[in-house]
Amino acid sequence: MILKKIELSDFRNIENLSMTPGEKVNIICGENAQGKTNLMEALWLFTGAKSFRQTKDAEFIRFGAKRAKLCSEFYSEHRDQTAEIVFSPNKSMKKNGIDIKSSQEYAGTIGGVVFSPSHMNLFRDGPKERRKLADTSLCQLYPKYISVLSDYNKVLLQRNTVLKDAKYHSSLLDMLEVYDEQLARLGGSIIRTRVNYCESLNKKAAEIYKGMSAGREEFFAEYKTTVLDEFEHAESSMSTADWAQKFYDALVKTRNYDFEHGSTSVGPHRDDIEVTLDKMPVRSFGSQGQQRSCILSLKLGEAKLLGEAMGEPPLILLDDVMSELDSIRRDYILNSIGESQIFLTCCDKELFSGLEDGKVFIMEKGNLLGGGGGIAKQ
Ligand SMILES: Nc1ncnc2c1ncn2[C@@H]1O[C@H](COP(=O)(O)OP(=O)(O)OP(=O)(O)O)[C@@H](O)[C@H]1O
Ligand SMILES: [Mg+2]
Repeated sequence: MILKKIELSDFRNIENLSMTPGEKVNIICGENAQGKTNLMEALWLFTGAKSFRQTKDAEFIRFGAKRAKLCSEFYSEHRDQTAEIVFSPNKSMKKNGIDIKSSQEYAGTIGGVVFSPSHMNLFRDGPKERRKLADTSLCQLYPKYISVLSDYNKVLLQRNTVLKDAKYHSSLLDMLEVYDEQLARLGGSIIRTRVNYCESLNKKAAEIYKGMSAGREEFFAEYKTTVLDEFEHAESSMSTADWAQKFYDALVKTRNYDFEHGSTSVGPHRDDIEVTLDKMPVRSFGSQGQQRSCILSLKLGEAKLLGEAMGEPPLILLDDVMSELDSIRRDYILNSIGESQIFLTCCDKELFSGLEDGKVFIMEKGNLLGGGGGIAKQ
């Protein structure tokens, strides 16, 4: 997957922009509020995903303009292709000149992984964000997973309603048996998928972390499920049926507790992904640079898994990752990520002084300097 040309008009603070990126590393450098993240956001929209910022479609249109237009030429599946997205303010999409009706139909056109400052809170936030990290990627990898997740959430809501209402109508408790069976079946499938995914992700991310930290610390990521007892470990050899049984047993065991609290205390909706460095949880003991490196390793690991599934490396978009990283880690990002085309923003020219091969663009008030062609580094 290679983006060969990007043209934007009236997108956020960018009136007109034409960019011819390089095939490897592309650095977009500029002072604060110049439009670097806006450009990354436009690139991300080509993947078909929602913006990584909480935003409404109308906000993409430059103040005072009527519509925003994003065009790209890219090479994928051994051929040149085009994609076009217009917000006016409703979204319309074209792929190779043909109208695309839904986001689902467009999904998978351009594969990508993004790291934005919002990901920095991954360890400071609760487990919800860490589950989301796995789920976002699993939804890209297995479209069926989306419906299992949504069915699970529906049954969970019903079970919680029964738990709350049963305080006043105890006959409702008979319905728990039905919900527990359904929840265990759907949850068993979710847990198994996540356990296997985390195991594959751990292998990739640990390798990347090793390179990034020059082997100084040992990275380990593991899926922690509330369905098991505290000291039990999730085994990837367990089948969906095994997990469904474990989950069912846990639901029965916690029924009285759940009834008292009016909610379901165990299951994939309460699970977590734990990351340790030299066996110490990063969440409690990691420095800022270590936490950032762990998140980056997880994201780059995700890119590797996505690349293997799609048969070509995805785009990697790294918004503002370089600060807080020492020069060994920065050099690794600039020169060792591998096959993917990378777009990377930063404010300080010093941060990419170790770049061996790539293109450097300067963003100033929504304009890319250098006639849109970028300034190749000697
Ligand atoms: N719809 C819009 N129309 C015009 N300007 C907009 C629109 N949406 C956002 N902007 C402006 O775009 C500017 C640049 O934003 P952006 O987040 O891309 O900056 P940045 O270069 O990434 O800065 P930083 O280094 O601080 O992250 C902001 O000042 C914002 O007000
Ligand atoms: Mg920014």
